[in-house]
Amino acid sequence: MTQIVLPGDTNALGTAFGGKVMEWIDIAAAVAAQRHAGCIAVTASFDSVQFVHPIHLGDVVVLYAQVNRAWRSSMEVGVRVEREQADEQQTRHHAVTAYLTFVAVDKAGKPIAVRPVAAQTDAEMRRHAEAELRRSRRLEERRS
Ligand SMILES: CC(C)(COP(=O)(O)OP(=O)(O)OC[C@H]1O[C@@H](n2cnc3c(N)ncnc32)[C@H](O)[C@@H]1OP(=O)(O)O)[C@@H](O)C(=O)NCCC(=O)NCCS
Repeated sequence: MTQIVLPGDTNALGTAFGGKVMEWIDIAAAVAAQRHAGCIAVTASFDSVQFVHPIHLGDVVVLYAQVNRAWRSSMEVGVRVEREQADEQQTRHHAVTAYLTFVAVDKAGKPIAVRPVAAQTDAEMRRHAEAELRRSRRLEERRS
């Protein structure tokens, strides 16, 4: 997903509001989850957002979202956000990483089963394994 940072998206320093970037992350992740599930998927948790580089007014923001792993009805989606400067080189920097959990639901909002994720590349297999550890932490937090 691609966005351009407009004046209404920024703070007094001319950098993007974290909340605005989180909205874009949520949308990109929802599209990935819904494409995987083939039905509506709702955000169950939004965790581990790391803002590592500021995003400036006029930057192009490029979001990559991928379903890392699916369990019965829930899916972990990882989102990488890059800022692309509006210069000749279109220099890109990694700006944000986030992990979200989506749950596939029926029309009544009840969780329904999704197909598993078939990790293929080394990177996908690493994300698939790490997702299980993050899920354990998430479910522990949910219980406490
Ligand atoms: C997400 C939701 C559908 C889960 O429903 P529920 O009745 O609690 O269902 P369950 O307890 O059976 O959980 C369903 C799945 O979600 C997972 N889940 C629920 N809450 C979770 C959380 N906070 N973090 C990670 N996974 C979670 C469960 O582990 C389970 O996974 P699995 O089926 O893959 O094993 C329900 O809580 C809901 O509708 N929440 C509001 C969602 C919403 O409105 N989001 C928009 C943002 S406001």
